[in-house]
Amino acid sequence: MAAPSPSRTSDWWRDAVIYQVYPRSFADGDGDGTGDLAGVRARLPHLAALGVDAVWFTPWYDSPMVDGGYDVADYRAVDPAFGTLDEAEKLIAEAAALGLRVIVDIVPNHVSDQHAWFREALAAGPGSAARERFHFRPGRGERGELPPNDWPSQFSGSTWTRVPDGEWYLHLFTPEQPDLNWSHPDVRREHEEVLRFWFERGVAGVRVDSAALLTKDPDLRDFTEGVDPHPYIDLDEIHDVYRSWRAVADEYGGVFVGEVWLPDAERFARYLRPDELHTAFNFTFLACPWEPDRLRATIDSTLAEHAPVHAPATWVLCNHDVTRTATRYGRADTAFDFATKRFGTPADLELGTRRARAAALLTLALPGSVYVYQGEELGLPEADIPLDRIQDPMHFRSGGTDPGRDGCRVPLPWEAEAPSYGFGPPPGTEPWLPQPADWARYAVDRQLADPGSMLTLYRTALELRRTERGFGDGPMDWIPAADGVLAFTRDHGLTCVVNLSAEPATLPPHTALLLVSGPMGADGTLPPDTAAWLRA
Ligand code: GLC
Repeated sequence: MAAPSPSRTSDWWRDAVIYQVYPRSFADGDGDGTGDLAGVRARLPHLAALGVDAVWFTPWYDSPMVDGGYDVADYRAVDPAFGTLDEAEKLIAEAAALGLRVIVDIVPNHVSDQHAWFREALAAGPGSAARERFHFRPGRGERGELPPNDWPSQFSGSTWTRVPDGEWYLHLFTPEQPDLNWSHPDVRREHEEVLRFWFERGVAGVRVDSAALLTKDPDLRDFTEGVDPHPYIDLDEIHDVYRSWRAVADEYGGVFVGEVWLPDAERFARYLRPDELHTAFNFTFLACPWEPDRLRATIDSTLAEHAPVHAPATWVLCNHDVTRTATRYGRADTAFDFATKRFGTPADLELGTRRARAAALLTLALPGSVYVYQGEELGLPEADIPLDRIQDPMHFRSGGTDPGRDGCRVPLPWEAEAPSYGFGPPPGTEPWLPQPADWARYAVDRQLADPGSMLTLYRTALELRRTERGFGDGPMDWIPAADGVLAFTRDHGLTCVVNLSAEPATLPPHTALLLVSGPMGADGTLPPDTAAWLRA
């Protein structure tokens, strides 16, 4: 298969397919059981052959890994478990040579408690300038024994931790992730320098973690359900930050993708105004159940909310925080919701996989860019992680009820017959998370040899998306279809039909059947939970 072209236009990001690498679990180059940059470099040809345009790396910076690297101790250094800055530079260059752009992940809301600024703040004590870069406050109650406010955490539990001198500091996530004070000029300056640091090393884009949480109510007032504005989600002042960031990105031609979880479409679109972020993840679509009316409504509202700001939509089925698609679509409740994740939720994997295949063709045919999370192209299911191997703080902070996010972070299977399925460590060294015993069937080598595999489907679909006209950015129109069937056309007669009903569906008139996500019915009909690409 030919190497993908780096881009079709300078607006490459408007319709790119972006592959998400979770470096810890992608490939282990040095054999210690943890994925690393050496492993990624060795496996870059897999991504080029898959046919994606860009690769987003979750944080690879120096970190104590309390939250999988989202606790950054130093943005200008690569964590020794992953490699060195020199290797990151080589990786960026090697990816470019294969036509792949690199996107790094910046976590502006918080740093690690091991970051130099936080250590300095702890040592400097109450009232010091160093503490002003964070949110330190005296406690409430007679002896300051109560937290300064009642804010709920993004990870359950308290958002405040008391330090030995009696002050408390704010952390929306774990205590090891103190929140930065975004009213402080140092915080703003430092992040602009970090952006420059990575743009100067050739990255094409930056993913912005927890992008709607940075700015806080100046008085840190209590949270009252239903009272607007929320004291820390989506404050108006945040847009000022992204306007300055955009000016920096524009100097380098860099682009942003924001992690913006907001139910309000109009508030969401504000982040995508022409002088702010270029794109943001479409979590409404990610959370949407596999139901025709809900999906159609979500697609319509997505396009409607992006149109006024001229931003392209993104289509996301999963990432390193949520339940894997094949498992979610095989459950009775096919929506995603952090609040309802529980151990032992039954899933019909055959059904879920059939739907995940159809969903791949659906998302790749929609206008905008598409994210593929590592292992999605292999159809990996969510893995059950034994209790004593779970590492995710979300599990521990839930008091053990939430299984956490490790089930979608299991090291990838590359070779069916090799130890750790070719992930990397020699026999006797276990990967950092255990791999299920029956994953040989998902291994890359086995799927490459199977014309009916998920990997073959993705490779074929991505090649068609690149070579056929009509995909990517541009208009789409719904066409009449039976109940439970979604059908739409793109330019040049391209048509996508997805059958979410329980009955076989008749395909609209066409001159060519470009691709179908599963076997067709003997009578030429499209079976349930199957999608097809046609040329009219
Ligand atoms: C984002 C990341 C998630 C992380 C959190 C805190 O939601 O995707 O993995 O735990 O931010 O940084």
